[in-house]
Formats: sequence, structure tokens, C-alpha cells
Amino acid sequence: MRVLTGIQASGKLHIGNYFGAMKPMIELQEKEELFTFIANYHSLTTSKDPALLKQLTFDAAVDYLSLGINPQKTTFWIQSDVPQVLELYWMLSKFTPMGLLERAHSYKDKVAKGITANHALFSYPVLMAADILLLDTQKVPVGKDQIQHVEMTRDIATKFNNDYGEIFTLPKHVVNDEVATIPGIDGQKMSKSYDNAIDIFMETEKKLQKRCNKILSSSTPLGEPLKSEGCHIYNIAALFLNNQGQLDLKERYNTGEEGYGHFKKYLKELIWNEFSEAREKREMYLNNPDLVRDILNDGAKKMNKIANAKMAQIREAVGIL
Ligand code: ADP
Ligand code: TRP
Repeated sequence: MRVLTGIQASGKLHIGNYFGAMKPMIELQEKEELFTFIANYHSLTTSKDPALLKQLTFDAAVDYLSLGINPQKTTFWIQSDVPQVLELYWMLSKFTPMGLLERAHSYKDKVAKGITANHALFSYPVLMAADILLLDTQKVPVGKDQIQHVEMTRDIATKFNNDYGEIFTLPKHVVNDEVATIPGIDGQKMSKSYDNAIDIFMETEKKLQKRCNKILSSSTPLGEPLKSEGCHIYNIAALFLNNQGQLDLKERYNTGEEGYGHFKKYLKELIWNEFSEAREKREMYLNNPDLVRDILNDGAKKMNKIANAKMAQIREAVGIL
């Protein structure tokens, strides 16, 4: 099964991103034919700073490789290294009714937030459709906010196929309902926009401890049993523990011998240890940017072959010489 994931590089990754999106993606590599790319053309819709866009694109590549994207198993590239997608975007535009784009939630939300509408923002879903259709993608794992974009892709592909024959595979979205919403240090959904996130790659253990210390907890005097249910420290720690580990931690809450301070220290250990291997890999990649570029070039090479073959078929179908 051909599976495609697109990454919007948006800065520091947090634990919610890891458990909500990255870990499931990394696990997919074992079962499916995974294709993953960094959607830097899409990022242009909101980017104003060229140096920053370059940096975010590179950092995203480093972070994903460090956390487990394996270039031996997964084709990993940067969108702009396969510019054929922009040609397809134009061809698909003809099969994209204005009304379809006008109904897009993400476009309407952005405009409602005061972002000035421009054509790139408006036609964002057509470029996403081109990403998906160029590859004959069968499955697209997405968060709920992106489901509509995959549905639009199917609509566009169906219209094209009706006119020109069975050129495109119709993709399906996959939403992982098992993945819970990860809470932040205030118990609300962890998000970089709410200043409640714990980043995956904190510079030092001390900084990570400081962040863990900010997790909201009730004030129960030492000696009294603590409740693990509803405790944000417990809920975050549980993500890193197997069933037995969770039972053991609950037991430690029950004895009343330890206070929240102890559990915040324990949580820091859990997080620091979980990402220790990734941290080492990240150092290695940051010190060897050429290696990162080589990996991305390999991915782009594979993709260019696929893209050229598909575009030849599409050009032939529509009559472009
Ligand atoms: P943020 O809310 O920090 O801006 P993004 O919207 O960039 O995060 O999310 C990137 C991916 O991480 C999405 O697939 C999203 O579903 C997932 N994700 C983000 N925050 C959480 C969370 N708190 N719990 C579970 N998944 C999350
Ligand atoms: N729009 C997606 C997001 O914001 C990123 C993306 C671009 C994508 N092209 C894609 C995702 C193709 C899946 C398939 O998260």
C-alpha cells in the first residue's frame, strides 16, 4: 500500500506532535510503502523570511531523521526538489471548481483569522492534491483538519478521470482515532500556540526539569496518598510507560511517600531517556549537513523517476506535446 505523509515544517516539535503524529508515522514504515516529504512550497503561503524557511526545512529533515524516519525504508524528500508537482497543480486546476475551494474549512479559518487571502492560500488544496495524485497514493494519514483536503483530492481526480480515462488512483484518508489528544503542562491540548508544550529536544536536562516543574498540580501535603487519575504529570508520564510501568507509578502515587516534586523529576528522567538516542543522532546530523542533503537528494531522485513517468502519462492524456 502506497502511503503519503506531508510535513509542514513549523519549528520546534513537542511531545504532542511526537505521540500524535510522528510515532504512528515511524511505525508505519514497517508495514507500508511510506513516502514522506517536507511541504516547503506549501509553507511559502505563510512565510515571509527566506532564511527562516530554509532553516525550518532543514531542521524538520534533521528532526524526522533523528526520531526514526529510516531512508532505507522510506522515500524522504523536499517538495521543491520535485517541481513536477507544480505542473500537475496547473493541470488539476482546470478540474477544481471555484465553489469547492470556497468551501474549504482551512481557507475560511485562515481568512477569518485576518490572514489576507491570496491565490496561493486559496489554491493550497490543489497543490496538496497534486502531491497526492502524482504518486498514485492509496492512503494519506492525516489529522482531522486535513480530511477535507483529501476528499477534495478525490473530487478533483474523479473529474479528471471522467474526462481523460483512469489516470489517477483515488486516495483515502486515514485518521488514527486511537491516538489520544496529548495534554500540555496546563492540562489543555498541548500546542505550540498555547505556550503549554514540552519540546522533544530541550537543550539541557535542567531546562527540561524546569519545564516539567511548571506542570499544574494540586497541593496535597507529603504523606497523603496522591491521585494519579486526572494528574497531568501522571498522564504525560503514562505515555512513556508500558502497562506494568503505569501500574507501578500508580502504586507510588497511592503510598503517599512521594510528592509531586518527585514525580516531576521522574517524568523528566522518562522524557530525557526516551529521546536520548534521537538526541545523539540529531547532534550527528546537525554536524553533518551534507549527509542530510545526500539523504534528501536520494529521496528526490527516486521521486523524480516516479514523477517523470506519471507526468508523461498525464501529458499524453491531455494532449500537451
Ligand atoms: P500545534 O498544535 O502545536 O501547532 P500542529 O498543528 O503543527 O501542532 O500539529 C502537527 C501534528 O501533530 C498534527 O498531526 C497533530 O494532529 C499532531 N498534534 C499536535 N498536537 C497534538 C496533541 N496535543 N495531541 C496529539 N496530537 C497532536
Ligand atoms: N496540508 C498538510 C498539513 O498542513 C501538509 C501536506 C501538504 C500534505 N501536502 C500533503 C499532507 C500531501 C499529506 C499529503 O499538515
